[in-house]
Amino acid sequence: MLDSKGFDIWSEKYDSSISKNSYGYPFEGYYNVLNFVYDNIDNKTSSKILDIGVGTGLLSNKLYDDGAQIWGIDFSQGMIEQAHNKMPSAQFILQDLNNGIPSVLKDKGFDYIISSYAIHHINDDKKLELFKSLKSLLNSNGKVIIADVAFKTSDDLNQCKRINEKKWDNEEFYFVYNEISETLAHIFCKVNYTQVSSCAGVLILE
Ligand SMILES: C[S@@+](CC[C@H](N)C(=O)[O-])C[C@H]1O[C@@H](n2cnc3c(N)ncnc32)[C@H](O)[C@@H]1O
Repeated sequence: MLDSKGFDIWSEKYDSSISKNSYGYPFEGYYNVLNFVYDNIDNKTSSKILDIGVGTGLLSNKLYDDGAQIWGIDFSQGMIEQAHNKMPSAQFILQDLNNGIPSVLKDKGFDYIISSYAIHHINDDKKLELFKSLKSLLNSNGKVIIADVAFKTSDDLNQCKRINEKKWDNEEFYFVYNEISETLAHIFCKVNYTQVSSCAGVLILE
């Protein structure tokens, strides 16, 4: 698994590497997945949005251009620099998500917390802690929208793993919706999951 220095190195070529590799595991349908998140955001021109694992800003950039107020968290300085180039007025925080959410964000009342292809770097226990803490950062109508390499069932995950045996990354933590939905329903009032590509889906928590 890449550490922050690994992501620093990737940051300069990240955008071009994704556009060449959005077929097959793990980035199959990458742009459809990002568009799915975008289409689920109302009031794009005025929303306050936190992007966790913001990377080079490929997910939040379009929302920034629409007029949304963007905050981004990432543990890679290189990734943040690329995102800052695209979104000069956005606010960025260098933070390892394994250490939780920075206290400066605690009273921000976000309309949306979004994320793409980032939380699989966090193990399942930490992921759950993270989901709990995200709820407290939302305003009363706020939503969390998480896009990632993910599967509805463990059979779906195992099938993808079999097909992509040589490429499969055993150090990443992909969530299986059916295994976490009940726990999430104890934290959020509404929990919804859509499989968007053969290996990626979007979780919406309200
Ligand atoms: C595959 S990239 C995805 C970036 C972007 N969201 C996208 O869709 O293109 C994963 C991002 O998560 C960040 N990341 C990975 N582990 C992290 C951690 N523990 N804390 C904070 N950011 C992390 C990386 O630096 C990188 O920017």
